[in-house]
Amino acid sequence: MRVLVVGGGGREHALCWALHRDAAASSSDLQLFAAPGNPGTAPIGTNLPIAATAVDELVAAVRSHDIDVTIIGPEAPLAAGLADRLRDDSRAVFGPSAPAARLESSKAYAKEVMRRAGVPTAKSATFVGMGPALEYIGGHAEPLVVKASGLAAGKGAVVCRTREEAVKVVRAMLDGSLGEAGKEVLIEEFLAGEELSVLALTDSERVLILPPAQDHKRLGEGDTGPNTGGMGAYCPVSITTDVLLARVRAEIFEPVLREVAAQGTPYEGVLYAGLMILPDGTPSVLEFNARFGDPETQVLLPAILPGFTQHLIAIAQRQWRLLPTQQVLAVERAAVTTVLAARGYPENPEKGVAIRLPDPAELGEDVIVFHAGTYRDNEGRLRTSGGRVLSVTGLGATVSDAARASRGAAERIAFEGKTWRRDIAWRETERAGAA
Ligand code: AMP
Ligand code: GLY
Repeated sequence: MRVLVVGGGGREHALCWALHRDAAASSSDLQLFAAPGNPGTAPIGTNLPIAATAVDELVAAVRSHDIDVTIIGPEAPLAAGLADRLRDDSRAVFGPSAPAARLESSKAYAKEVMRRAGVPTAKSATFVGMGPALEYIGGHAEPLVVKASGLAAGKGAVVCRTREEAVKVVRAMLDGSLGEAGKEVLIEEFLAGEELSVLALTDSERVLILPPAQDHKRLGEGDTGPNTGGMGAYCPVSITTDVLLARVRAEIFEPVLREVAAQGTPYEGVLYAGLMILPDGTPSVLEFNARFGDPETQVLLPAILPGFTQHLIAIAQRQWRLLPTQQVLAVERAAVTTVLAARGYPENPEKGVAIRLPDPAELGEDVIVFHAGTYRDNEGRLRTSGGRVLSVTGLGATVSDAARASRGAAERIAFEGKTWRRDIAWRETERAGAA
């Protein structure tokens, strides 16, 4: 089977790693391609020098390499209609159509779907002009959360402690600080609670929930500083209960999928619900993503029992009957990933810095290093190419063990300006300490 993974970040390296591992375990013949891939995917597949957003070139590559299954990693090609184009070409694809992917690419649309489906989410209103936005801010309690409706690579949501700050942020977005993505803004009430990333595989009707993970969006230790794409993640999360997941299924995934299908745009692929678990236990939706999370994938795939990627292929080939019948996939072991970012991330990451990456044997069997923003220079030397550089996943019997393995390896990887958090999974390790 010839499989193409679209994208070149840590998530896509993790997908390639899992595809490679599962094929080896089942002695199946896999030919792996990544576009554009990265130095982590190069040893296990063929990197095609095509940007993840170059839809025409990707469609042509799928034809010329006669790819059987394409797995789309990032949101931009989904929003640009890559899945639709490939399906029109009778190719198997893992990823939703562009209209269905609007659950991520338009927060205004996602809110509308949730309103119609009766799904719990923060109260909000949508604006394209400053006047009505000012009026709304004046009439609502602080803090407020301001969000660009469009895709903004993790920079589109700002928690504003004061009304003045909210006014400033709305003005900047409407003035074009985030380009087209911020020309429509949402202003929503602030929700207190604990965040949880719950991802589910779906063919639009059936829902196979993956073990929830927790992401650390803030740049600084103790969850301080600006929001980023994610500085680390862990799985499993002990606040997850069967009751909670049954509610997430019945109150969120099923009604949203029904509503999207009723609009004539059925959703297939993975649906990521970014949740706030409110103090009373209610799961409330902060956002949807139409793809796997990054860095959640770098903990989910190593934590889940091997064989997971067969499910992705079955969904792409529309063979749902091949999927397991359980409601939630099981965890095999705990995983924690620590993101090593470049100096200046997320605003203005430094690039081209040499990286000293010890051999896998030196880092230990309980560590997997996923590449994200790296490249090899003409001498074959590994260098940073921006933003999130590496994602260092540690494994263990418990989250505390996995966190130690991740932190220990992160410590030993060196590059000038390395920016990282030593406290990934702190909520869980505190809970374990208190238990
Ligand atoms: P989003 O892009 O909507 O997921 O927002 C990014 C991050 O901003 C979330 O992961 C939360 O940490 C925070 N956030 C978003 N919406 C809210 C909200 N209504 N209340 C509190 N925090 C929020
Ligand atoms: N880790 C958050 C995201 O993938 O959007």
